[in-house]
Amino acid sequence: MNSTSNNSVSRRTALKGGVAAGVGLALGAPLAWAATDRAVHASSLPLITKPIPSTGERLPVVGIGTNQFSVTAPEELAARREVLEQLPNLGAKLVDTAWGYGDSEIVIGKFVKELGNRDNLFIATKTPNRGDVPPGAAALEQALTRLQTPRIDLLQIHNFYGIDELFPVLVDAKTAGKVRYVGVTTSTDQQYPQLLEALQKRKLDFIQVDYSIEDQGAEKILQLAKEKGVAVLINVPLGGRHGSLLTKVKDKPLPDWAKEIDAGSWAQLLLKYTVAHPAVTAVIPGTTKLAHLEDNQLAARGRLPDAAFRKKIEAFWATV
Ligand SMILES: NC(=O)c1ccc[n+]([C@@H]2O[C@H](COP(=O)([O-])OP(=O)(O)OC[C@H]3O[C@@H](n4cnc5c(N)ncnc54)[C@H](OP(=O)(O)O)[C@@H]3O)[C@@H](O)[C@H]2O)c1
Repeated sequence: MNSTSNNSVSRRTALKGGVAAGVGLALGAPLAWAATDRAVHASSLPLITKPIPSTGERLPVVGIGTNQFSVTAPEELAARREVLEQLPNLGAKLVDTAWGYGDSEIVIGKFVKELGNRDNLFIATKTPNRGDVPPGAAALEQALTRLQTPRIDLLQIHNFYGIDELFPVLVDAKTAGKVRYVGVTTSTDQQYPQLLEALQKRKLDFIQVDYSIEDQGAEKILQLAKEKGVAVLINVPLGGRHGSLLTKVKDKPLPDWAKEIDAGSWAQLLLKYTVAHPAVTAVIPGTTKLAHLEDNQLAARGRLPDAAFRKKIEAFWATV
């Protein structure tokens, strides 16, 4: 485990963000304060980062996914803006988006510009995943325009769509300094053979794939990525919007031993479990609420489970 900074949530932010709000309502004022104190304490633990193998640059291990950022209602936009504002204040950097997520890139580009926090973020986006494959340069220019940035940190081929035409353009864009890293993504088992092939034949900085305590079909891919020195982002780490892993444990108390790895919620336990995989660089839980962002960011603090502890979590999960 490594730590590079020590950003922390203030008591006010913890209270405002509602890290402990649910507990407060359920347990009454004195315990609510105790829970808030625990969250504030957890936020002061060292931030966990992992290196991107191709450069050694370190990334905080929990980012966000934004496939629900294409909204228009003022209160929904305000919630997304708050998430983008607080993300770097909590120590995080990585924002994953895509051309394919409606207007998410546009929403992110506008708010990041207004907030002036572009330099504190690592923005990952993806080339179009449907329709006519645009001439490669156009796909890149459209992402730069929508995100209102001169440079994209990570540009990924979304679900291999148009990979043969688009990948060489990404590599050129990297040489030209418009893109810092290149990669490919999927979240379906049917595309795992293509992902294995891409790892073998292309010079990738990153892959993005689905993995969680209940979704381990990508294990072979993770092993190969590690062997090849390719960074791994994990999508759908909480089981997605439908069939979330969290609904399974909604009414169950968190085991006492979770505190041995500084996990204070089910989301933190599950994210720490995934991030602790030796091949994984970072997870990108989808989040549209500040309270969830603050909860998830605490998974990037303190200790991670070792191999034996991961087995213990698996054994416990088999009983829920
Ligand atoms: N092929 C691809 O490239 C691909 C495919 C799928 C996904 N992705 C990327 O991966 C990201 C993550 O996937 P996902 O969003 O589908 O699934 P996910 O991260 O497994 O789950 C997101 C769901 O969990 C909820 N949630 C998050 N944190 C929570 C917390 N602490 N407590 C309770 N609920 C919480 C979210 O609700 P709220 O919104 O209310 O916070 C949302 O409903 C996407 O946003 C996208 O960026 C990429």
